[in-house]
Amino acid sequence: MTEKYECEVSKGGSQGLDLLDLSFNPTTMSFMKNNAIKPGMKVLDVGCGTGVMSRWLAKEVGPTGKVVAIDNSENQLEAARLASQGSDFENIEYKLLSVYDILDLKEKFDLIYCRFVLHHVHSPRKAIKLFYEALNPGGIYVGEEGLISAGFAYPPSFAWTGYEVQFDQAKEEDGKGRDGDFGMKLYFYSKKAGFDILACQLVQPVLWEKERKALLLYGLKEFKATALEQGMTDAEWQNKYKETERLIEDDNQMIAFSQSCQVAAKKP
Ligand SMILES: C[S@@+](CC[C@H](N)C(=O)[O-])C[C@H]1O[C@@H](n2cnc3c(N)ncnc32)[C@H](O)[C@@H]1O
Repeated sequence: MTEKYECEVSKGGSQGLDLLDLSFNPTTMSFMKNNAIKPGMKVLDVGCGTGVMSRWLAKEVGPTGKVVAIDNSENQLEAARLASQGSDFENIEYKLLSVYDILDLKEKFDLIYCRFVLHHVHSPRKAIKLFYEALNPGGIYVGEEGLISAGFAYPPSFAWTGYEVQFDQAKEEDGKGRDGDFGMKLYFYSKKAGFDILACQLVQPVLWEKERKALLLYGLKEFKATALEQGMTDAEWQNKYKETERLIEDDNQMIAFSQSCQVAAKKP
């Protein structure tokens, strides 16, 4: 199976990331502040997307620290670079690089931050081992990955049941496809890679405001090609889109977004 990112990223970067930022940044930031980030650190941001968190990290580490932010999508990086102009962000370097090639950087880091990337790639265990290798002794990996199947709507709706995870859970190994529930395994595989766990917690945002729910439409559009490849018909996709629009308009409708597992792990 060829490995490719399932969401279409157009020029200007992924708009689907706005919902992730609004829903998860507050808990990600407090988790990082409590367990990891300090001024002067050298940070690697893996799969940085449009760089919202890279810019936050750059401010936190300050002028004596630096952030190397990588992504394998030129469109995401272009949007990230554009938003990072100015003297506040001179300590960020953006690079086009795959998570599997981080050792090519030939640098060691004090902190590796990687959010919502391992539940997209096909060899997340290999990636965690690479994070271990790319850290200085005492360095920290902060990972945050989804449990996509944990999403639900109430009142129930076929448009938001928590995406079906296509990964065969019986074959829990690398190279077998995307594991959209990898978040539930993050603690275990971080331990297996040799890390000591500093903290671990689950987060599940609730979407109830109309403006917030409306951002789901970007994700639907960006995932459309993959959904059709996975067997959904165009008519089924249109139906799901319409139903999502209905959920957005209905003030009585709540949507529990995907769960996310956060792990802070220290290299001894
Ligand atoms: C869901 S987004 C998360 C972005 C950002 N970390 C955040 O939390 O907002 C996943 C990102 O991973 C990138 N990505 C996917 N596969 C990758 C790979 N093999 N190496 C590096 N980046 C990858 C995508 O281009 C995308 O920007």
